[in-house]
Amino acid sequence: MTRHFLRDDDLAPAEQREVLELALRLKADRFAARPLEGPRAVAVLFDKPTLRTQVSFTVGIAELGGFPVVVDGRLAKIGERESVADTAHVLGRQVAAVVWRTYAQSRLEEMASAAGVPVVNALTDDFHPCQVLADLLTVAEQRGGTDALPGTVLAYTGDGANNMAHSYLLGGATAGLHVRVATPRERAPRADVLERARQITASTGGSVHVTDSLAEAVAGAHVLATDTWVSMGDSTEAAEAERLFGPFRLDAAALAKACDDAVVLHCLPAYRGKEITAEVIDGPQSVVFDEAENRLHAQKALLTFLLERT
Ligand code: CP
Repeated sequence: MTRHFLRDDDLAPAEQREVLELALRLKADRFAARPLEGPRAVAVLFDKPTLRTQVSFTVGIAELGGFPVVVDGRLAKIGERESVADTAHVLGRQVAAVVWRTYAQSRLEEMASAAGVPVVNALTDDFHPCQVLADLLTVAEQRGGTDALPGTVLAYTGDGANNMAHSYLLGGATAGLHVRVATPRERAPRADVLERARQITASTGGSVHVTDSLAEAVAGAHVLATDTWVSMGDSTEAAEAERLFGPFRLDAAALAKACDDAVVLHCLPAYRGKEITAEVIDGPQSVVFDEAENRLHAQKALLTFLLERT
């Protein structure tokens, strides 16, 4: 059966750990895995803007011995010029895998059901699982390895209903983290995502907690994370975003309430003075550029894992 990575819980806890361990090995030895030797091609499709995702998948596919075919969604117009299913059939006959950044999660699911090759979520409106794999890799590095992930307290502050919040809930629960989400009540995470995360924690020992108190979320946390207030494709006005999320800004006062050696994550791009202050993102506890680099290593490990099982 072809394996896909459409959302964080497509990897079971032991599989997620296997991918993270492989990512650590590939970071130490960049060319140790060559599943795309040939070179075999991987299609990397973007319906939304990108920097990190395009660069890390392009570089990573080449380092795995393969050939990235980057497709601009404005030209391909998937779902307009032709159906997602027809696109999937065309791609699946020529490439070893499909990586897609798009809007609705259902588009990705349709691609996966017809492609016949692994399909990877490079961000949808609902989830950003490759980013959270990279974030978990970064936390593992900072805290002494994957064994340290279970029990780690990660506090995410900002929009609780966006793709990063949802992926922190599912991916963090899978890793056994205690995930706290600080967000206004009207931007709570989706109920089904929260419920699924709670189910996962029953076997991993983690927990999930949603609060409208930033102070409660960050108290004693090992990891603090935030994200842009207005996600790609979100129509929230700047003034409304400030009203909603201003009280959840990741600033020095919030950082002071966390553990002394807490680290700060942001998936980037960041808006200094909005969701995070310059003092925090540019300060000594920020590991955001390790996090950005770790997209490369995490995604190489993920592609290797998926291709080995297909
Ligand atoms: N964090 C992230 O996905 O970056 P890009 O939007 O630049 O790809």
